[in-house]
Order: sequence, then C-alpha cells, then structure tokens
Amino acid sequence: MADLVADLAADLAGRGYIADRPLATVLHLARQLELPVLLEGEPGVGKTAVAEALAAAGGARLVRLQCYEGLSAHHALYEWDYARQLLDIRLGEADGRGGAELRSRIFSSEFLLRRPLLEAIWPTDDRPVLLLIDEVDRADEEFEALLLELLSQFQVTIPELGTIRAERRPTIVLTANRTRALSDALRRRCLYHWIGFPSLEREIEIVRTRLPEASDRLVQRGCLLVQRLRAGYYRKAPGVSETIDWLRALTLFGATDLDRDRVEDTLGCLLKDSEDMALFRGRDGEAVYREFGLLADGRTA
Ligand SMILES: Nc1ncnc2c1ncn2[C@@H]1O[C@H](COP(=O)(O)OP(=O)(O)OP(=O)(O)O)[C@@H](O)[C@H]1O
Ligand SMILES: [Mg+2]
Repeated sequence: MADLVADLAADLAGRGYIADRPLATVLHLARQLELPVLLEGEPGVGKTAVAEALAAAGGARLVRLQCYEGLSAHHALYEWDYARQLLDIRLGEADGRGGAELRSRIFSSEFLLRRPLLEAIWPTDDRPVLLLIDEVDRADEEFEALLLELLSQFQVTIPELGTIRAERRPTIVLTANRTRALSDALRRRCLYHWIGFPSLEREIEIVRTRLPEASDRLVQRGCLLVQRLRAGYYRKAPGVSETIDWLRALTLFGATDLDRDRVEDTLGCLLKDSEDMALFRGRDGEAVYREFGLLADGRTA
C-alpha cells in the first residue's frame, strides 16, 4: 500500500505535479475504494491541476464540468436534441408514422446529448474516465442535490429512459474554494482533503518542475519571499500559481536573483487586490525588502 502511494506520487510527478504524501494517499484510496474525492483549498494551490495530472497518469479521459451559479441539469447532465427530434417528427409524419412508436424513438439515446455528468457515467468511448466537477461551491444548492445520486450510486436517472448506472465507475474529483458551505450530504459521500499552501521545500520543487529554466537562487529566494507574504496580513495571499507566474516573469526579464526594481515591476503577478498592493507599497514592502537585503538604490545588502 505504502509503495502504491509512492508510485502514484511518482506518476503524478512524471506529469509535472508534485503531490505530498497525504494528497497522494487520498487519491490512491479514491481509486481503490471507488469513492469520489473532494479537494478544498485556497485558490491557485493546484486543485484543478492535480485532477488533470491524475487523469493523464491513469490514461483516463478527463471529463470536466466547470460549475457556476445557475448551472442546470441541462448543462451538466443531458439535453434532448430538439432540432433533430423535430426533424424526425416531421419525417415521421410524412411517412405516416407517429404516436407511441415515434415518441419512444425520439426519446431514445440516439437523440440524447450527453453533458459531462452523463458522459462520465455512460461514456461514448471505452477509455476510463476521470470526472472533474470543478468549483462545485459556485453552483447552487439544488445542483448539489442533483449530484448526490451520482456520487453515491454512480448512476443518474433520466425520466424518459430510466436509471443509467455506470458499467465502469469513473474516478470523480470535486474541487471547492469555500465560497459557500457545502452540504453535509455531499461531504459524506466523498473522501476529503484540504490542499494547503506548500512548505518552502515543496514549493521550490514545484517551481523547479514547472520552470526548469529559472535560476536556483531566484527560485529559492522568490519562494521564500512568497512564503513571507503569505504570513502577512494580505486579503488574498498568493497561491502557487502566482509564485510560478511571478518567477516566470522575472526569468523573462533575465533576473537570476531578486532585485527591488524588478519586484516592484512584477508585483501584479503576486498581489491581485488593490488593498494588498497598497499594504505592500505603504509599509510591508519596506520590511520585506529589508529582510531580503534589497536596498532602494538597486544594491543588495
Ligand atoms: N503541487 C503542484 N505541482 C505542480 N504544479 C502545481 C502544483 N500546485 C499548483 N501548481 C500549478 O499552479 C497553477 C495553479 O493550479 P490550479 O489551477 O490547479 O489551482 P486551483 O487550486 O485549481 O486554483 P483555483 O481554486 O483558483 O481554481 C497550475 O499551473 C499548476 O500547474
Ligand atoms: Mg481550479
């Protein structure tokens, strides 16, 4: 079991994703126990990316449902192909067909448009599927209720067709940012893991994987500076994606170490809120610059 978890972590690393042991363990268990997994965490800590890497590592097709307010069963589950149904009715009338036969024909799977949830349960090809239900907390509570049957029985019910149960259970990953509380019913059906900000060592490893061209010193000091900002009083602490974007920008400028002017120029890669910007420019930045030995005239202490 321990080796299998390490193997999975190595497979994910092969796809460019650095997972710590608790995350690799929960993903391994999700696959072995055939249970959905709910990943919560701050923005930009790699929730979506891990689902993509897991699909790639398992040779699975990624079927993604991006959630949003007002997301309905039509967009998530299935729709009838009205245009084709109408055409078929017209043709049927011309041929003198109609009634029950026509009705059962136009409500058969041939006229069904599979949206992500149905596609995951009843795929159109025979590759294994990883279903990513991304940012589930953005959808309404009614939508959550719609998911419960899928998450516990791996089946969905379509009134005209009946219950459709997965022949092969897809791996299901849900992500959430805590924009609203998820129901206990949904949580109960999933394994749960909180993805926090990575440790300094792990963040350095992540950046090295994603940005092999960046200088070692820049990566080390840059990650340290990001960790320092996370410990401050910022409304929106920078995520791993911000670290990567920022160090990519600095590398693009040819930087091999931190430099005060360059940090100023690229601050928008790290801080995404005007109050946070003001806090850094007002007083915290000076403290950070002092801590990192970055003097105002461009020299390094
Ligand atoms: N552990 C990691 N290993 C490799 N790359 C990572 C890791 N964590 C984050 N990243 C990178 O950071 C970026 C942001 O990740 P991702 O989009 O998955 O974050 P998220 O948690 O889904 O954010 P949001 O909540 O805003 O959707 C991606 O480019 C991803 O590759
Ligand atoms: Mg995401």
